[in-house]
Parts: sequence; C-alpha cells; structure tokens
Amino acid sequence: MKIITTIKDQIEYSNSLIQNGKNITLIPTMGNLHKGHESLLLDNNIDNKKVVSIYVNPLQFDSTQDYETYPNTYDKDIEILKKHKIDCLFLPQVNEIEKNIIKKVNVSLLPYMDLLCSKYREDHFIGVFKIVKLLFEIVKPSVACFGEKDYQQIQLVKHIVRNYFSDKIDIKCFKTVREDNGLALSSRNNHLSSLDKEIASNVYKNLNVLANNLKTYGFTIFHDLKKQFIAEMGEKNIRIEYIELLSNDLSDRLPKIDNKQYRLFVAFYISNIRLIDNIKI
Ligand code: PAJ
Repeated sequence: MKIITTIKDQIEYSNSLIQNGKNITLIPTMGNLHKGHESLLLDNNIDNKKVVSIYVNPLQFDSTQDYETYPNTYDKDIEILKKHKIDCLFLPQVNEIEKNIIKKVNVSLLPYMDLLCSKYREDHFIGVFKIVKLLFEIVKPSVACFGEKDYQQIQLVKHIVRNYFSDKIDIKCFKTVREDNGLALSSRNNHLSSLDKEIASNVYKNLNVLANNLKTYGFTIFHDLKKQFIAEMGEKNIRIEYIELLSNDLSDRLPKIDNKQYRLFVAFYISNIRLIDNIKI
C-alpha cells in the first residue's frame, strides 16, 4: 500500500492513475478505524483503485479538547487498510491542509442548515464541507463511500458533488454497522464504559419500537410518541438533543400520505458523550 503525506504527491498519483485509464474510489475517514469504517472499505467495485484518507479535521470539532483527545491509532489503522488491500493511504498534514482549504463558505449554499445536527452544530458542517470539497479536488475520485450513520453528512456531500463537481462523483451509501446490542459503532463509543454502551443501546431499541408504532398507527401520533420517547430515555439518564421524523431527502418535515420514504433521526447525550443514530421506517 502506498502512503502519501503531501498534497502534491497525491495529485501526481491520482493524475497518473487517471491517465492510465483507472478510476478512483475515495473513502474519507478520521482514522481510529472500526468495523463501521471497514464496511466501507469492502466496497465491491474491484476495478477502481481504492484511496483511503485519514485526516482528523480540526474545523469540524465543537471544542479544542474534543479535537485534541481524538484517538490516534495509525499503526492499527494501517494494518486494517493493508488487510483490505487498499491501494493508497492519503495522510495529509494539518498545516498543509490549512494552507489550501477554502477560507469562506457561502453558508446559504448549505442545505438543511436549520435541521437535525446543523441546528446544534452549524460550524461542524462548514468544516466537513471544506475538507470533503478539498479531498475531492486533490484525490479526484469517481466514486466516494460514506456511512448512513452520518446521514446528514451524506446529504451535504451530495450537495457538494452537485454544485462543485457537476454530479460526476458517485456517492455510495453504506448501512450502519452496529454492536450486537444495536448501538451504532462510533469512535466516540471509546469514551463510554460497557455499562454506558449497554444503556445507550436502548435508544436504538426504542427507536425501532417508535418506528413500528408509526407504521401501525400512522405518522399523526408522532408528536405524542416523541414526548414519551424523550421521557423514557430521560429515566435512563439519556438526554435527547433531538428526535425528528423526516423524509429520506430531508426535504419534508411534516409527513404526508405520499410515496416518500421516511426516517427517524436522533442525537443524544450519555455521560456527556454525544451520539447520533437514524433508522428507516
Ligand atoms: P469518520 O467519523 O471517521 O467516518 C468515516 C466514514 O465512516 C463516514 O462516512 C461515516 O459515516 C462512516 N461510519 C462511521 N461509523 C459507521 C458505522 N457504524 N457504520 C457505517 N459507517 C460508519 O465522517 C467522518 O469521519 C468525517 O466527517 C469525514 C467525512 C472523514 C470528513 O472529515
């Protein structure tokens, strides 16, 4: 596996692949790889050259402390990437990225800014916007892989592709990988005790109960079920930041009787750790 640490070398490598008729699949990550990331590495397009990026992006963290304590497990990550026969690891340095990243984003270009996580973490998505756009410019993928756990991030990435890359990058979405108890895998789970993880898994379990009730009794009871959900989670010391019912494309807040697919989205705190999840209804 090639390991590239400068933007110039990555551009040269990507250009040479493209000149030789190869397409590139990019899997952007912040490292500390777990089975959720691994599911993205398994993408079955074997003709493409696979490039994984590991870059802990300071612009998308809510606090310096959160950024500075983000786990760094490069040696283990490299072993995982080699096991999956990844062609290239792009490991750029913070100072070089910061010199090249766009300074200003036209915020009005970001869709759904008043929804879900963006309502509480606007700067986070501006940070994601800047790094994903830059990674796409440097690596020049024709396919890029993302996880459904970060559902709103996928919508933002699709928006970037539509507006800046003429819709020429195919965005592949991968199902959320979970622990046996249902808790979605996340690097943040490292900060939780096993008891906390067990408690946190109740969110997924109750989310499924809620989804089944909506399917049986109709979406009009969502408001009441939402209150009940928040109260039940509160009894387990889980603080719900939001729980929302939205159409798959995030455009429709008030479910109507139509053919659209809907999802439930949740963000919650357990022992001061913020986690997110979503499920299809
Ligand atoms: P990171 O949190 O490292 O996640 C990298 C990719 O793995 C994302 O597409 C994310 O949705 C996916 N992923 C994480 N947990 C998953 C799980 N349990 N099941 C399936 N996929 C999962 O997301 C980021 O990094 C960053 O915002 C990034 C896109 C790299 C930009 O900095």
